[in-house]
Amino acid sequence: MDRRAVLAEYERRARLGGGEDRLRRQREAGKLTAHERIDLLFDPGTFEEVDRFVTHRCLDFGMAGQQIPGDGVVSGHGRVNGRLVFAFAQDFTVFGGSLSGANAAKICKVMDQALKMGAPVVGLNDSGGARIQEGVVSLGGYADIFLRNTLASGVVPQISAIMGPCAGGAVYSPAITDFTVMVKETSYMFVTGPDVIRTVTHETVTKEELGGAMTHNERSGVAHFAVDTDEECILLIRELLGFLPGNNLDDAPRVETADPVDRADEALDSLVPEAPNQPYDMLDVIHAVVDDGYFLEVHRHFAGNIIVGFARLGGRTVGIVANQPAHLAGTLDIDSSVKGARFVRFCDAFNIPLVTFEDVPGFLPGTVQEWGGIIRHGAKLLFAFAEATVPKLTVITRKAYGGAYCVMASKHLRTDVNLAWPTAEIAVMGAEGAVNILYRQELEAAGENVARVRAEKVAEYREKFATPYIAASRGFVDEVILPSQTRAKLVSALQALEGKRERTPPKKHGNIPL
Ligand code: HXC
Repeated sequence: MDRRAVLAEYERRARLGGGEDRLRRQREAGKLTAHERIDLLFDPGTFEEVDRFVTHRCLDFGMAGQQIPGDGVVSGHGRVNGRLVFAFAQDFTVFGGSLSGANAAKICKVMDQALKMGAPVVGLNDSGGARIQEGVVSLGGYADIFLRNTLASGVVPQISAIMGPCAGGAVYSPAITDFTVMVKETSYMFVTGPDVIRTVTHETVTKEELGGAMTHNERSGVAHFAVDTDEECILLIRELLGFLPGNNLDDAPRVETADPVDRADEALDSLVPEAPNQPYDMLDVIHAVVDDGYFLEVHRHFAGNIIVGFARLGGRTVGIVANQPAHLAGTLDIDSSVKGARFVRFCDAFNIPLVTFEDVPGFLPGTVQEWGGIIRHGAKLLFAFAEATVPKLTVITRKAYGGAYCVMASKHLRTDVNLAWPTAEIAVMGAEGAVNILYRQELEAAGENVARVRAEKVAEYREKFATPYIAASRGFVDEVILPSQTRAKLVSALQALEGKRERTPPKKHGNIPL
């Protein structure tokens, strides 16, 4: 027996997956194959595949004799920009990338190793869910993966890419992970597909409407990124990994920058408009402040009234949370609270300092919000900021009104450094609303002079409360700074906070209002 030839044959069959025909169809659909995706993810020549010859053990439903080496998933580890990362890529050409017991065991093996080694896990999902022929064995395989996703949560970063039609268990595992990237037009996520929906609820809906990339990026918020191609998806994951530590005991990698830490951007001094209700783009502030103006926005298409994402300050990764006055006036609503809270908790779990830019007129009023549970959902953001023990820095650019003042990393939630621009307005509510309540009788008595009296009272209120100086006099704001100084102040604060140690009382875990 020519042993080399036998090995070569095994390797050929493993690489061939579900066969030439199905590989051709995969490519015609605009998708890369599982091996091509893995090759693109890792630094050239660094990927070590494991379990390449594992096969399923199912003999039912004509599965006997249909063993394909690897059983529809490519798994192993390698280097991404020189750092250790574990990954698996489902192969849609093998039984639709569906999950068998054997295939689940392969995924669990890399997850267990990643946890031991303290390295991120990347899952490239392209799967019809539980392999129907294997019944409860495949369901058990999913539960094994969900358990590991849960145990690894907050210990190693977990990133999911959705790169094909993903159903059933193939969407629940990504849902537990930290970040989900979807490829437009070729990827879908749903618990049950359009056919089942038509049968059960008589609703007619396309795959794209039900669970396409933009549905989950804009509407449901299940996905954090939408990209055009498989290549873009993998490059984005490499970039995202560059902002993150390998595990919860490490710091994120530092990246040298030529951007001076004390760079003053004079344009910031005139960015906030005079009129309190005139919007401006908070992204301009972020770009002006961070290293090289570079900001990786997360959840860009969802809840635009809050901005979250990663940047660097003085070479160190920071998580940015910012109200966006250019969208819904920057109010906090259900979606923005949940979006912000999840991001804050990720950063806190992985030692990433939080920088908050605040311009918030309050919570969005109305029955839709109240009946939807804004009290419970808004409390998530409050809980997340209060619980976070990483270095926390807040810059109030304009409004910090009411409960939203408390929520957005206020001093009272043990934020380390609270800065305010001279344009900051820190009050229980805006001037118009306050005057209506405080001076109701005077306004009623003013008759035809009501407009003049109201204007006088509003001006008086703004003079007194629409400033940062009362908060500064109490020490709730540490310093009032010129906007152009923001970068220098934040970098210096981060340096001072480098050795920060803060603890919460011992407990099993808190009970965040889910
Ligand atoms: C076994 C499967 C499969 C599955 C697809 N295939 N899904 N084989 N088990 N779950 C096979 C098909 O038979 C086909 O084989 C090949 O994969 C490609 O599938 P197509 O249907 O031709 O592809 P497409 O039209 O692109 O549709 C993809 C799809 C659809 C949307 C994923 O296949 C589908 O709806 N599959 C079933 C999804 C599902 O209900 N899964 C179980 C969920 S329950 P050939 O030989 O023709 O190439 C679950 C429980 C987990 O996951 C627990 C959750 C908490």
